Amino acid sequence: MKVLGIESSCDETAAAVVEDGFRMLSNVVQSQIDIHAHFGGVVPEIAARSHIEAIGPVVDEALAQANCTWDDIDAIAVTYAPGLIGSLLVGSLAARTLAILHRKLLYPVHHVEGHVYANFITEQAPGPVQLALPKFQPRFPLLALIVSGGHTQLVLFRDHGDYQLLGQTQDDAVGEAFDKVAKILGLPYPGGPSIARAAESGNPDRYHLPKAKLDNPYNFSFSGLKTAVLRAVQREVGKDFTFPSHELPGLVTSLQQHDFAASFQKVAVETLVERTLRAFQDFRPQSVVIAGGVAANQELRRQLRQKLPINIEYAPIQLCTDNAAMIAALGYQQARLSTPADPYTLEVVPSLSMSKTAWNKTGAL
Ligand code: KG4
Ligand code: ZN
Repeated sequence: MKVLGIESSCDETAAAVVEDGFRMLSNVVQSQIDIHAHFGGVVPEIAARSHIEAIGPVVDEALAQANCTWDDIDAIAVTYAPGLIGSLLVGSLAARTLAILHRKLLYPVHHVEGHVYANFITEQAPGPVQLALPKFQPRFPLLALIVSGGHTQLVLFRDHGDYQLLGQTQDDAVGEAFDKVAKILGLPYPGGPSIARAAESGNPDRYHLPKAKLDNPYNFSFSGLKTAVLRAVQREVGKDFTFPSHELPGLVTSLQQHDFAASFQKVAVETLVERTLRAFQDFRPQSVVIAGGVAANQELRRQLRQKLPINIEYAPIQLCTDNAAMIAALGYQQARLSTPADPYTLEVVPSLSMSKTAWNKTGAL
């Protein structure tokens, strides 16, 4: 079964064709990073307008690269939640229209749950860009650490469409913390890769930053860490807490930038790893996966591989950040196990916890 995936929830316009939920036939991502970098973050109105311009050609390209015509496509899967409303609308309206026009079944996919399914892609059609894919699909029960710009969650999957939220961030997502700390330090957007790069040559023990203590062992909190970095940078450049953060980049030295990046990354990654290990000990899953943009972080990968008592495989970086192959991979499971949406009435939902999707059997604790 060949599923066309469409993703447009934030600042990437993407389409992909995936066969049987694991064989990637094409994966086209048009990023808007260059456009938004100028503003230091995503501007929703500009994102929506760029999606409108890109969506048609991106879908055509995904079909062409997969050597498919519309006759070959069995179903369409589209991100309907969560995300920027204007951005979501462009992808969902395109998918609804194409489903009606070409008489295809339509499946609404939750973006965050979709990130987990990047780990189920184990094969790729021959082509110029070959990714280092995992050799095996994860097994259930499956523990997923989901770490993106908007989410930080530990989720236990009993099966496809049957999962339970164990814990989540109480304030900022970890990716958001990477992005905000990068801004304080004057490192370019998006902050995650910039911090990771700066941290490579920094001293992670130079600045002592706090780890949040929470009652629920699977919950997270990153806003205190971000504020601690802000205060430490202000102190380091000889200013007090009233000094405006946007003037700090002009005062920090390159050495301080690198040491702050390394010290922040160390605490952020250790926090993620500690909570994941705790959940692993408590629930003894068969597999552990990481998902979302921050799963691209090499230090997180290294520490998890070192500390988990089971083997962990990683999706390639290209499938950790936003893409439509992961949406098509999950769409396949929904096509197998649930009923399609009505293309005339499907609505987008800008804010929706993945444990509350219509197709999840378990729901929140
Ligand atoms: O999943 P994603 O592409 O978009 C959302 O759904 O949010 O995640 C984007 C986030 C951004 O906060 C970005 O800074 C972060 O992922 N990120 C990283 C790395 N690459 C991307 N964070 C840490 N280390 C990285 N190498
Ligand atoms: Zn994402």
